[in-house]
Amino acid sequence: MDRTDYSQVLVDFWDEYIDWNKRREGENGFLVNTLKENGCRKILDASLGTGCDSIYLLKQGFDVTSNEIDAVFARKALENAAKEAVHIKLTGYDWRELDEKFGRASFDAIILQGNSLTHLFKKQVQMRTLSAFRNVLRPGGILIIDERNYGYMLAEKEKILNGNFRYSGKYVYCGKKVKCVPIEIGPEKIVLKATHENGKAGQMTLYPFKDGELVSLIRQAGFENIEQYSDFKNGHDVGADFFQYVAKK
Ligand SMILES: C[S@@+](CC[C@H](N)C(=O)[O-])C[C@H]1O[C@@H](n2cnc3c(N)ncnc32)[C@H](O)[C@@H]1O
Repeated sequence: MDRTDYSQVLVDFWDEYIDWNKRREGENGFLVNTLKENGCRKILDASLGTGCDSIYLLKQGFDVTSNEIDAVFARKALENAAKEAVHIKLTGYDWRELDEKFGRASFDAIILQGNSLTHLFKKQVQMRTLSAFRNVLRPGGILIIDERNYGYMLAEKEKILNGNFRYSGKYVYCGKKVKCVPIEIGPEKIVLKATHENGKAGQMTLYPFKDGELVSLIRQAGFENIEQYSDFKNGHDVGADFFQYVAKK
């Protein structure tokens, strides 16, 4: 499996799952500060979703290209952009073909946020994707990528499946109306079920990166100076819900 087809029901409540204002509060300027500190202007948002990060960056004056392979997500993002009166430059490529579609050194930064790379299950496909990202970055350009706390989920499987899931709800996916919990946990796949308070629900089947695995893949793909953040704070904190990495070409 190389990607999840998002169901209409999941996309319909994705914005409530995120809570756009709370996502911004949780990251506390991390995204824009990191982009500015690294002199980035041309950005590829490699997983547009419903547009939360692309629309924010457009409003902050960045030159953003937004990639979304899933037609249901893309449609919703275009609706959101129209409401917010911004224009999204939309592409719909598979990550693995990005370096065939864009020239080398096309971007100063690539962002892949909201726990996206986890949609890829095979190491070869994960590596191809990270290499394609690196190829379209200019020298010195950066990749900003994140992952869930899969180490915790794998270690505390029994407790979690018995209904005791630790989640602060303050970062990345912050909406109070949507509860998202693991309903299946194994070393090769984790199934997350998101349920809206109105009873509607959708599922995502994801590859759980083991501790240190994603950072090692990023390094193997040729990135350097990889900085790690835990819930947007510098360093490694096992109690975090999400881990972010900023990696340089
Ligand atoms: C969990 S969603 C995150 C969306 C958005 N970044 C957010 O934070 O809400 C995962 C995203 O990865 C995209 N995706 C998954 N596999 C992909 C692939 N092989 N190529 C391109 N995009 C892919 C999906 O279409 C979706 O946009």
